[in-house]
Order: sequence, then structure tokens, then C-alpha cells
Amino acid sequence: MIELRDFLPSDVPDLVSWIDGPGSLILWSGPSAFRWPLDDAQLLSSLDTERRRRRSWTAVETNAPDTPLGHISLAREPHASTGRLGRVLVSPQARGRGLGELLVTSVQQLAFNELHLHRLSLGVFAHNERALHLYERLGFVREGTLREVCWVEGVWWSTVEMGLLDHEWRAARRH
Ligand SMILES: CC(C)(COP(=O)(O)OP(=O)(O)OC[C@H]1O[C@@H](n2cnc3c(N)ncnc32)[C@H](O)[C@@H]1OP(=O)(O)O)[C@@H](O)C(=O)NCCC(=O)NCCS
Repeated sequence: MIELRDFLPSDVPDLVSWIDGPGSLILWSGPSAFRWPLDDAQLLSSLDTERRRRRSWTAVETNAPDTPLGHISLAREPHASTGRLGRVLVSPQARGRGLGELLVTSVQQLAFNELHLHRLSLGVFAHNERALHLYERLGFVREGTLREVCWVEGVWWSTVEMGLLDHEWRAARRH
């Protein structure tokens, strides 16, 4: 069985090893969070500085809790009724087996059922078809495109903004 537990400093080397180039770094975390080459120090420092507004989790097999398989985070401003899902990443060996779905649905449940948020948002690069497909299947709606937001390896990348409201999520679960 796969479960989510809090992201630990000991998970950092695995996460760093899943990012194999500047393009995958930006695909995962956007243009400004980290610098290529990603290293343990950058991730550890972001864990520390973002601790108050971002919670991060690691997906693991229940019987292998020290072997990370996936990562996700939820950022929130204090007292806000909205949250931003981000940093969704599945180990390259574990992709295509439903782990992305498990990560996103787990955070949706936490956000709407436990934190009682009204809205979840996220940004995804427009050419990231796998991630777009996943988020749309899990109820996120395309709300707009930010055109040509960053220049990556010789081309402009655009982002799609997506959102999901609590009542939409509950209605979809009833069907
Ligand atoms: C995006 C990512 C998190 C998805 O994780 P995953 O474990 O592979 O996802 P799942 O297996 O749960 O689901 C993937 C879905 O995409 C579909 N898919 C796969 N390749 C696709 C493609 N090229 N175009 C459209 N859909 C695709 C799969 O069929 C599956 O949908 P289905 O369950 O309806 O059949 C993972 O690929 C990843 O870590 N990518 C690199 C980092 C990244 O892009 N993160 C997202 C940042 S916004």
C-alpha cells in the first residue's frame, strides 16, 4: 500500500536524483524556485524558509517508509481559504502507475475535508500533457493561459492556471 507522510530532510537526495536537467527542474517547480543544478542544499534551505506557508509530503510504500516514490506540496497564506498545490513529482521509475493520482487526491481530501479550504489552484506548463490530463481528470478546471512566461532551452513556455472549488469537488465525488 502507498501512503503519504511528511517530507523529511532525508528524502532530499532521492528528490534531487529524479531531476535530470534544467528543463525537468522548471517543469517541476517553475522558473524561479531553484537553480540548475539542483542540489541538496537548495532543497533543504527551501524546506526551512517555506516551512510556515508550505507543507510537503512524500509518498512511500507502507512497508518501505524510507524509500521516497513521490512528492507534493500545498502552499497557503495564513488564514486564507485558498491553497496552491505544487511541486508534484513522481520518481521516474514509478510514473504511469497511478501515483500522481494518489498524491493529488490525498491533498485534495486534506484541503477540502480537513482544512476546509474553498479553493485549490495550481499552475502547469501548457505542453505538460500528462500532468494536464491528470489534473483535469481529478476535477481541476482550466482558468486561463499565461503566455510565454519563461524561456527554456530555446523556446518560450506558457502556463495554464487551473482551479477547483470545494463544492465542485464534492459534487464530482457524489457521482
Ligand atoms: C505528472 C506526473 C506527476 C504524473 O504522475 P504519474 O504517476 O505518472 O500519473 P498517473 O499514473 O497517476 O496518471 C497519469 C495520467 O496521464 C496519462 N498520460 C500519460 N502520458 C500522457 C500524455 N503524453 N498525454 C496525455 N495523458 C498522458 C495517463 O494515461 C494517466 O491517465 P489515466 O489514468 O486517465 O489513464 C509525473 O509524470 C511526473 O512526475 N512528471 C514530472 C514532473 C511534473 O511534470 N510535475 C507536474 C508539475 S505541474
